[in-house]
Amino acid sequence: MESKEISATYEAALERSKKIEADIQLHPERYKVLTGDRPTGRLHIGHYFGSLQNRVRLQNMGVPTCILIADYQVLTDHEAFSEISQNTKQLVIDYLAAGIKPSDKVIIYPHSYIPEANQLMLPFLTLVSSSELERNPTVKEEISKSELSTVNAGMLTYPIHQACDILYCKGTVVPVGKDQLPHIELTQKIARRFNKKFCKNMEPIFPEPSALLSKTPSILGLDGSQKMSKSRGNAIMLCASEDETASLIKKAKTDTERHITYDPVNRPEVANLLMLISLCTDEDPAAIAERIGDGGGGLLKKTLTEALNEKLRPLRAERVRLEASPDYIRSVLMDGVKRAREMAVATLDEVRRAMNMEI
Ligand code: TRP
Repeated sequence: MESKEISATYEAALERSKKIEADIQLHPERYKVLTGDRPTGRLHIGHYFGSLQNRVRLQNMGVPTCILIADYQVLTDHEAFSEISQNTKQLVIDYLAAGIKPSDKVIIYPHSYIPEANQLMLPFLTLVSSSELERNPTVKEEISKSELSTVNAGMLTYPIHQACDILYCKGTVVPVGKDQLPHIELTQKIARRFNKKFCKNMEPIFPEPSALLSKTPSILGLDGSQKMSKSRGNAIMLCASEDETASLIKKAKTDTERHITYDPVNRPEVANLLMLISLCTDEDPAAIAERIGDGGGGLLKKTLTEALNEKLRPLRAERVRLEASPDYIRSVLMDGVKRAREMAVATLDEVRRAMNMEI
């Protein structure tokens, strides 16, 4: 029953996402993209092909874009906090190196620096029931994966905080993977409930945002069996050197059959490496397989190493340049904070007025 419900909402979200994808090309200025990452480490090629390239594409289409660094969310399932600041700056370096260009329309900032957006948490908490929070499938999975001995209230309530992240700037499009859909749905509910309760005789304050689901197939790690992730040790980081990249790929799992074919169902490890080459060169993975053929796993890995290192060469050079400019990185963040706060102050004013709390 539950899985049927989840797949029905997934189908609905996919439909909505496709409609937005078509309309956003025609009217980019009518949308506002809000995306974010937790500052738990540097980004890897799964992030690059799965989400960074898409953010750059939306930015280049002229869609106003807010990129939020979710530093408070790190505290929900990590005891460690000593690297948050450093990771935040590394995220900015990854974004900029990948082609994000901060401007008056494109901003990057940590959400801990936007008090007026965080204050939306207080009214929003009253619009959600505790059982709704306990039912959230993504939170449930995070709880079961985390090794914390107690579940803190931040873990249960961070999806409401994520609604603050999205609604304070009236974000309408949230590019995400499937795991974030429960949070987007909750954000829609909060927007709807706030408008219904507090905006009876006035224009609704909050738009209901939509998820924009990624078209890139999920990228597996070099073990070929699970999603690429730094913590599983199966990732290639964007900041890795060309030699590190080569030696990681050399260790990637393939199978015993020498002749290379593209068969995602029966040969997932080989198919994943072919898919990665395809993402670098824009060729069809089956055509790449055919070319490699009897060259076997060795040629497959050599081809991927060359394609990936070539694809990432400009990004990595830019990364090195940016790492030498910490003042610039900080100024990007401070500029983002300034612009985000302007929006947050305006929204909080509207919210206070709607709730009859103005003095
Ligand atoms: N929950 C997201 C993640 O784990 C990060 C995030 C926080 C986010 N706030 C957001 C994503 C708002 C999109 C929109 O990666």
